[in-house]
Amino acid sequence: MPILKIARMGHPILRQVAQTVPDPTAPAVRRLAEAMIETMIDADGAGLAAPQVHMPWRLIVVQVPAERLAEEGEEGGDGVPPTVMVNPLIEPLGPEKETAFEACLSVPGLAGPVPRFSRIRYRFQTLEGVVVERVVEGFHARVIQHECDHLDGILYPMRVEDFSQFGFVEELRRASAAKGGDEAEGDEADDEDWDELAQEAGAGGR
Ligand code: NI
Repeated sequence: MPILKIARMGHPILRQVAQTVPDPTAPAVRRLAEAMIETMIDADGAGLAAPQVHMPWRLIVVQVPAERLAEEGEEGGDGVPPTVMVNPLIEPLGPEKETAFEACLSVPGLAGPVPRFSRIRYRFQTLEGVVVERVVEGFHARVIQHECDHLDGILYPMRVEDFSQFGFVEELRRASAAKGGDEAEGDEADDEDWDELAQEAGAGGR
């Protein structure tokens, strides 16, 4: 299975509204999904949307390791194994939002703070055509919202409200360390967060 080429911000495919997949059980859909999972794992990403690999379909793949939830302060979360979601739909449950740093394989090297709904219900079709519905919150909800945005031509920088904190992961990490890093209170990202963001931004580790 080939590793797919990832489109970067500025490429018109990322601004398109993707099309509904008429038959999630079609062999071509499975082939794309399997290549996307391999590409996501290779890139250490938490998710990947079909437009990012130049296919304008409403299809995302997601993986959230349980240890990542623990790092996000969500101990006890089950995590999400690599999962294919065809034609996903999101419904926010309440108006509450949380702001946290995000990165994206299509926006290499950068990260910024993005407000997202805290709690959502979402549903999708599997490659077998089965409808799955979930209610999730926190980091899991954030990943789903980020990936579904890709299907509507929206990249996370378009959601950033405070651009004073938008920048290169390596610089943000340095600035955070200078402010106290791991000892910082509240919303401050810690060292492990920066490692994860660096991976998601395709910027390598330290
Ligand atoms: Ni992305």
